Amino acid sequence: MARILIAGCGYVGTALAERLVAEGHVVWGLRRDPAGLPPGVRPLAADLTDPGTLRNLPSGLECVVYTAAPDRLDDEAYRSIYVEGLSHVLDAFQHQGQEPRRIFFTSSTVVYAQANGEWVDETSSTEPVHFSGTRMLEAERLLLGSPFPATILRLGGIYGPGRAGLIERVRRGEAVCADGPPLFTNRIHRDDCASVLKHLMALPQPDDLYIGVDREPAEECAVLRWLAAQLGVPVPRVERSIDLGPRRQRGPPRPRRRAGNKRCRNAKLVASGYIFRYPTFREGYSALLSRSST
Ligand SMILES: NC(=O)c1ccc[n+]([C@@H]2O[C@H](COP(=O)([O-])OP(=O)(O)OC[C@H]3O[C@@H](n4cnc5c(N)ncnc54)[C@H](OP(=O)(O)O)[C@@H]3O)[C@@H](O)[C@H]2O)c1
Repeated sequence: MARILIAGCGYVGTALAERLVAEGHVVWGLRRDPAGLPPGVRPLAADLTDPGTLRNLPSGLECVVYTAAPDRLDDEAYRSIYVEGLSHVLDAFQHQGQEPRRIFFTSSTVVYAQANGEWVDETSSTEPVHFSGTRMLEAERLLLGSPFPATILRLGGIYGPGRAGLIERVRRGEAVCADGPPLFTNRIHRDDCASVLKHLMALPQPDDLYIGVDREPAEECAVLRWLAAQLGVPVPRVERSIDLGPRRQRGPPRPRRRAGNKRCRNAKLVASGYIFRYPTFREGYSALLSRSST
């Protein structure tokens, strides 16, 4: 039984917390509004951007998982949560004389700027061009340079219960395939995110870096077509991609080409002994489709 803090206990953090509580661990879920945390998870109201609220962390924490995410997609919010928030937690631990066995940080595959469908793994170069990747990398380096043993998990796009908007877009005929060379997407089901973290926490000596994605970097259009077939709706049409920028918020759907286009390899995670519950988008979305039809 370990004393565990989940800092930024949201979508993934809560799924992890539930699993850890079920195994008998003592788990605190830290967030600004912890009122809705499930039974058994000890609520801890604090603001990671305000060091004053981190002064009274539970003592004797053996493991920490930093799964916070910003409310907004801008550089200031990313710096505030990933760099400054993490830094405040590290400062608080040092100040309080905490000696966690390991700190885990959920980073993102956005640190890879590869854009031509290249395969990437933990040894690939990270030269992010977007602030999101830059700030994630800054936070990773901050943690790895801290006095505490640390492990980074670079997650792909997370989907799962309550986060399956793609299904509805395909169902409504709003999903559109962009023409041109294949656009690869890298994803992981929420339940695998939580279970991967639990798996890494149980390893006697985890490495300092893993990529957390399922085994199949999937072509975006192949995913849309597969979903359309499952739903029995027309195949998404292919249109010339003319929009290189971020997703449009209003107006008719327009095909767009994302800036990043890489294939992330999960071999290191699999070699560590993790067995995916949802090894590809097919198993993951099938489970979501069968939930929504019941
Ligand atoms: N979503 C993706 O596709 C994706 C992809 C790659 C990596 N990741 C990473 O995976 C991790 C888990 O993602 P997620 O989707 O589970 O995150 P999430 O649910 O969106 O957010 C996590 C929690 O952070 C808390 N939080 C935000 N600001 C805070 C603050 N100032 N102080 C304390 N808590 C704060 C929020 O709770 P309150 O609002 O109550 O404070 C929220 O519950 C994140 O680190 C994320 O960056 C996500």
